[in-house]
Amino acid sequence: MKIAMIGSGYVGLVSGACLADFGHQVTCVDLDQTKIDALRSARIPIFEPNLDTLIAHNTAAGRLSFTTNLSSVVAKADVVFIAVGTPSRHGDGYADLSYVYAAAASIAKAARGFTVVVMKSTVPVGTGDEVERIVREVDPQADIAVVSNPEFLREGVAIEDFKRPDRIVIGADDERARSVMAEVYRPLYLNQAPIQFTSRHSAEIIKYAANAFLAMKITFINEIADLCEAAGADVQDVAHGIGLDNRIGPKFLHAGPGYGGSCFPKDTLAFARTGQDLGSPLRLVEATLAVNDQRKRGMARRIVAACGGSVRGKRIAILGLTFKPNTDDMREAPSLAIIQALVDAGATVCAYDPQGMDAARPLLPPIDFAEDAYAAAEAADCIVIVTEWNEFRSLDFERLKAVMKALRLLDLRNIYEPEEVTRYGFAYYCIGRGTCFRQAESRPRIVKMSA
Ligand SMILES: NC(=O)c1ccc[n+]([C@@H]2O[C@H](COP(=O)([O-])OP(=O)(O)OC[C@H]3O[C@@H](n4cnc5c(N)ncnc54)[C@H](O)[C@@H]3O)[C@@H](O)[C@H]2O)c1
Repeated sequence: MKIAMIGSGYVGLVSGACLADFGHQVTCVDLDQTKIDALRSARIPIFEPNLDTLIAHNTAAGRLSFTTNLSSVVAKADVVFIAVGTPSRHGDGYADLSYVYAAAASIAKAARGFTVVVMKSTVPVGTGDEVERIVREVDPQADIAVVSNPEFLREGVAIEDFKRPDRIVIGADDERARSVMAEVYRPLYLNQAPIQFTSRHSAEIIKYAANAFLAMKITFINEIADLCEAAGADVQDVAHGIGLDNRIGPKFLHAGPGYGGSCFPKDTLAFARTGQDLGSPLRLVEATLAVNDQRKRGMARRIVAACGGSVRGKRIAILGLTFKPNTDDMREAPSLAIIQALVDAGATVCAYDPQGMDAARPLLPPIDFAEDAYAAAEAADCIVIVTEWNEFRSLDFERLKAVMKALRLLDLRNIYEPEEVTRYGFAYYCIGRGTCFRQAESRPRIVKMSA
């Protein structure tokens, strides 16, 4: 099949490269000339594990190419995926659909013959109807079917997720489009990935409902973590205990600094707006949004408390900036709110992230950046692990001890056991384990912290 992928970002590039790997002829399109130039010279504009090899392999095989020329590619395509961004609209939190609608109008002008337009971008229920309306307005004769095929990949393991998905959701009200989509995903179907065919409206809601549910689950365990701290219990044990129940499951029960990233924050917000507009408010989602917002800045208050009530003039080392490990994506990362609050409170911040520093620089107030964790820790009054990159899981505490001014570690991801850290003389603070741990204390001291 000839496939055009409109938008070559995290989703478009991974989907395009994987579909080419299935044997389809794929052209990735983007408005951003620099991005396309980079891709054409085998430079990958984002960090996603193994994406470079997948792209190189399929480009060499002649199945994958890149262009800024949308119309020439769409004219030849059987299937056109829309994978452009749908960020939060400034001011009101609705999904900004301007990129989607602009792409739809360009596709309508360029399409020839029966063409399936597939919405991969995350869009509110009813957007497919509007895309269809735009297409008819631009070209009333166009033979186009609009399908919803939401993407569930996770950055950091995106290729694996695309190739071995839990499910593929296809919302199509047109019979011809259903068979085209079955053909697109045939290799996965042969691999027995469940394909759910449903209506377009249901597919659009599935994506938001899935993200909202996961965001609620994270927020739930974060609130339980606070309760555990207040009660002197351990949230890791509580999460394990409830996660063993098959109806609950163990995933997304890791307490931390609040969810961030390119999807959950904007999608929960847009979903809440949809509920309000349709007269069916999503109160649990609204509460999730409010709790999560407060949590991110609340993390900075914990750091201040750990530093004795003030960080003015103190040096804080931040380990990890991206919203999760194995990506360079900084969108809505908790580190942004935490660092801003620390700088506001008078701290000097030095940060290190294995992949995210270039993307982080323009989003942060002026801070120092270091080339590794140890350089970041030099003369620091406190180290804060914000993102659980693997290289932070086995820090050399003797080395840190030699360069730091005061021995404090705040582990916002609970990646250490207290005694692994306290044995080197550090005060260890974590999430939902009720405590500040110090060396040679047989029992933890309970320190109340407001998140
Ligand atoms: N990033 C994720 O993990 C993820 C996962 C699932 C779903 N999604 C959804 O997928 C969509 C894309 O997300 P992303 O993270 O890939 O965004 P992104 O910002 O990384 O990429 C979007 C790309 O689209 C390009 N673009 C915009 N308008 C265009 C046009 N008219 N023609 C050609 N290119 C155009 C931009 O230049 C940009 O390169 C969003 O709706 C998002 O919610 C993202």
